[in-house]
Amino acid sequence: MLALASAALALTPPPVRRPAPALLRDRQPTWSNPQGATLTQIREDVWLAERPFYPTLPGLQGTDVGCKMCVVRLPDGTLWVHAPVALDDALRRALAELGEVRHIVTPNTEHQKWAAPWILEFPDAASYAPPGLREKKPEVGWKRSLEELCDLGVTSSAPPAEWGGAIQLCWLKDRVPLTSVPFFNEVVFAHVPSRTLIVTDLWWNYPSSDDVPTSSKIWKAAMDNIYRPVYNRLMRGPNWDESYDTIMGFDFDYIAPCHGEPVATDGKAVLARHLAKIAS
Ligand SMILES: [Fe+2]
Repeated sequence: MLALASAALALTPPPVRRPAPALLRDRQPTWSNPQGATLTQIREDVWLAERPFYPTLPGLQGTDVGCKMCVVRLPDGTLWVHAPVALDDALRRALAELGEVRHIVTPNTEHQKWAAPWILEFPDAASYAPPGLREKKPEVGWKRSLEELCDLGVTSSAPPAEWGGAIQLCWLKDRVPLTSVPFFNEVVFAHVPSRTLIVTDLWWNYPSSDDVPTSSKIWKAAMDNIYRPVYNRLMRGPNWDESYDTIMGFDFDYIAPCHGEPVATDGKAVLARHLAKIAS
């Protein structure tokens, strides 16, 4: 009987997110933050700050496209923050319970909106700009560029020692269709101990459940049926395949995206299908 129970437990897929304590369920639940939590734990030493996000682009102001910040607690107990969202007092308190913010990462050119206030809030933290952006926008105050870390061109043999060997990175170069102009210019990360791939705009997973507003569903349809094929056919930049192989060489199963639901199992196959490397 015990053996059967153990086998059943082993077959149970891991949860996408862990239940947030009541103390952290302090905001309105939405499809983009289903627990209404300030911080949601997804893996050991990995949390998401899940937030609604309404773009300022014409026609999208009323559409919640969702936005997630990822927080990793490094082996030395300090916090590594990816794609920061708006800071508020509840988030400040929740982070202070976890550790000291020492690393602020802006992973691509799109998710830079809150970089400056975070850098001001945590002046002792190292802050990292996506490749090329520090030179273009010095006023933000990034101390370093992720490009400096890519000693092998698109990836790094030795990420910063302060990351404690817990984080890998790979630069995935894209471009505006039919030009050589970078578009998102994203750097992808993997948290080694939890086998979590952390992506920004490379992959999204908008749910289609009933509680998702119609406008968000339309956005998902556009991303899936218009943006995705354009990306896969026309937007892969130099060394893209080399980067893809590097990322697939990371040991991950879970995917933590900035947009939509995380995936708790089979992450490599999910990403490969999304990028048209295997059949959907
Ligand atoms: Fe995005």
